[in-house]
Amino acid sequence: MSKIFRFGVSLPKELIEEFDKLIKNKKYNNRSEALRDMIRQELIKKEWSENKEVVGAITLIYNHHKREVVNKVLDIQHNFQKEIISTQHIHLDHDNCLEIVAVKGLPQLIIKLTDTLKSLKGIKHSTLSMSSTGTNLQ
Ligand code: NI
Repeated sequence: MSKIFRFGVSLPKELIEEFDKLIKNKKYNNRSEALRDMIRQELIKKEWSENKEVVGAITLIYNHHKREVVNKVLDIQHNFQKEIISTQHIHLDHDNCLEIVAVKGLPQLIIKLTDTLKSLKGIKHSTLSMSSTGTNLQ
């Protein structure tokens, strides 16, 4: 476990009041926990902007009766074998599928994969959750 350092932070009264409201809403137990999470979030943003190896999850919602989209999703996934570490397909109901694609690799390629999938005709919704390998986070 890493050493814990303490430091004082000077903030305008209004800002700390807003911060306290925000962390209460988000169910943090204290300011330190909230601040740690915010710092980690910024470090992850930096990883994505500096083209370091990152991790993420792409979600897709599509109609499985539209065979063209199903085939294209598969073709594209085969083209990104190196970046895709796992996929999970969930049959939501008679028509709709949810696919979760776990990815690891360089941000440029992950974003290219996401954009390629997102732009397919027949994809109803897609998201990219940008996360980290965890190596540089404490
Ligand atoms: Ni399905």
